[in-house]
Amino acid sequence: MTEVVDAYATLAYKATIKLASLNPKSQGKQYHHNTPCELGRAIDELNVAKKHAVGNRFIDIGCGIGNVMALAEGLGMEVFGIEIDKRTLRYAIYPVVKNSYLSTLFELQSGLIFLNDALKLTSLKGFSIVYSFSPFLDPELEVALERHLKSLMGVGTVYICNFRQDDMDGFKEIDKDVWRKEK
Ligand SMILES: C[S@@+](CC[C@H](N)C(=O)[O-])C[C@H]1O[C@@H](n2cnc3c(N)ncnc32)[C@H](O)[C@@H]1O
Repeated sequence: MTEVVDAYATLAYKATIKLASLNPKSQGKQYHHNTPCELGRAIDELNVAKKHAVGNRFIDIGCGIGNVMALAEGLGMEVFGIEIDKRTLRYAIYPVVKNSYLSTLFELQSGLIFLNDALKLTSLKGFSIVYSFSPFLDPELEVALERHLKSLMGVGTVYICNFRQDDMDGFKEIDKDVWRKEK
């Protein structure tokens, strides 16, 4: 497992360096960024989430190349991702699906990344664990995204919300940055 994790860390890191130079937004005003999470932190969060979740279907909102999906899969979860940036997806480690019907994501097989805008998601039905690592740098956009996601989650959904910008009314913190929707 350590080797696999290290391999993903290296891949995600290399992809980030390349993307930083490819992405014109990184030169000026930047709405979202491509920095991957710190893997040890993600593994800890996923383990906590797994303990408290009612199911094992996981989605990374702004999944980048799919590095956290791979960790979740290693912990036995069914994994999905959604990513808006085509350039990031050049390095994707899972198959990428275009023009998908986002309301029916849960009917599909595990191990897919959807090329789409998470703000356009109309359902998170079937997902027990939702993960995000600050998809937006712009705090207003980040708040809008978090509110949108929270409104789509069912009671009992566990939300790993790293670098959150919004409050967590209706959620209970079960560990640092790991929340469960209570009502
Ligand atoms: C900080 S990276 C996190 C990557 C990975 N989830 C991780 O934790 O290592 C945030 C990702 O969110 C993506 N993103 C930003 N806005 C998005 C949106 N509206 N819909 C889908 N993905 C988005 C970015 O392109 C970027 O790849």
